[in-house]
Amino acid sequence: MKPFRCLICGETYMGEGPADRCPFCGVQGKNLVAAPEWINYGSIKMSDESYSDCEKALSLELNNQAFYKCAASSAETQISEAIFKRLSKQEGEHAELIAEMMGVEEPAMPQVECTKSDEENFMEAHRRESGAIKFYLEIASRAPEERVKQVFRALAEVESEHLKVSNIFR
Ligand SMILES: [Fe+2]
Ligand SMILES: [Fe+2]
Repeated sequence: MKPFRCLICGETYMGEGPADRCPFCGVQGKNLVAAPEWINYGSIKMSDESYSDCEKALSLELNNQAFYKCAASSAETQISEAIFKRLSKQEGEHAELIAEMMGVEEPAMPQVECTKSDEENFMEAHRRESGAIKFYLEIASRAPEERVKQVFRALAEVESEHLKVSNIFR
């Protein structure tokens, strides 16, 4: 087994080869490298507009993390529970990553309501993910910083996959 590391969230994992998705933040396998090739971007200097975009994205991720946690705890089947549980963890990774990029402490997760119906929660997930994708593509296109572009493009790809999963009832 060899150590690999994600260029987006920075998490490490051990395996025989690069995975098809980051097991933590969910980004595509092209973002996974052998540990010695990893680049530590840490917190970065950014424009006021990018900083304000990151603040909004951080709150969006924490809100979605909390929503999916609620949806997992009231899931009607083991499949929906597994999906919502993973989505909650991934949004939590995204929040952690954005806070780190901004150089701030990650705020506490808010209280977010969900319903007892998987169908309604997947519809709400669809609404949330559509909004996130649109917003992240806007951030990526206007940000002057390469790292901000890289991160939000990668996150928009993950949220697009969440959107596909949320179409389960459509
Ligand atoms: Fe990752
Ligand atoms: Fe996310």
